[in-house]
Amino acid sequence: MAARIIDGKTLAAQVKARVRDGVEDCKRQGVEPCLAVLLVGDDPASAVYVRGKARDCEECGIRSLVERLPADTTQEALLVRLAQLAADDSVHGILVQLPLPAHIDERAVIKAIPPEKDVDGFTPVNVGRMMIGETCFLPCTPAGCMEMLDAAGVDPAGKRAVVIGRSNIVGKPAAMLLLARNATVTICHSRTKNLAKICAEADILVAAVGRPKFVTVDMIKPGAAVIDVGINRDENGKLCGDVDFAAAAEKAGCITPVPGGVGLMTRAMLMVNTLQAARNTL
Ligand code: GUN
Repeated sequence: MAARIIDGKTLAAQVKARVRDGVEDCKRQGVEPCLAVLLVGDDPASAVYVRGKARDCEECGIRSLVERLPADTTQEALLVRLAQLAADDSVHGILVQLPLPAHIDERAVIKAIPPEKDVDGFTPVNVGRMMIGETCFLPCTPAGCMEMLDAAGVDPAGKRAVVIGRSNIVGKPAAMLLLARNATVTICHSRTKNLAKICAEADILVAAVGRPKFVTVDMIKPGAAVIDVGINRDENGKLCGDVDFAAAAEKAGCITPVPGGVGLMTRAMLMVNTLQAARNTL
């Protein structure tokens, strides 16, 4: 039986429509939500992502400030600019696009974002709050994955969830959010033994590997919910996820496509967080 496709485009449009209403309301109360995005260097993929974020802001009625800084920007200069944005009451969300050039210490830069403007949910304060279940800004990609499971009617409680990937941005927080929803969670990574067998036991499989078609059909339990976080290029240069979609879609219960899946929800959740940051100042 063919899997249900969890359509990120429709879902993201619904989320953004709700944000747009919230933004209108915020403006009526005298606050115009504003997101500042800092892009250092000229990584082409990052430039595409940042353009997408600015477009989403426009759709939602959020003011966006996109600043492009040269690749040789010093860490000190970046920290100075961040301090200015941190002190600027008209700016509610601050996002530093990653990856940063190699000469800049990413963790030091993230720590310079005030937690109340950290709409990526990357600062130690927000990561800690998430770990202990306090209200905080959730990282956008894992939050988007949870929205997609909810939309598909998949309740993680009591289910076996397997996350492939242990990054701070996706794998680790995705595992924490699934745990918070009472799933039994396994985190797999490059050193995991018997990966295929572990994945094949998953009722919920989250793939955040960064390798095209890494998840093959034998790694999928019949009827599983498959969330594909990967954004890769296949051998023909075509956009594809971490999951061999065509085969997986014959076996899974529901599955997210690439493109048109998690990526769009990541962007939508950034809008949710930015609106929340602005609301928190009312
Ligand atoms: N680079 C890749 N994904 C992300 C993200 O979610 N936030 C930021 N700031 N940079 C990224």
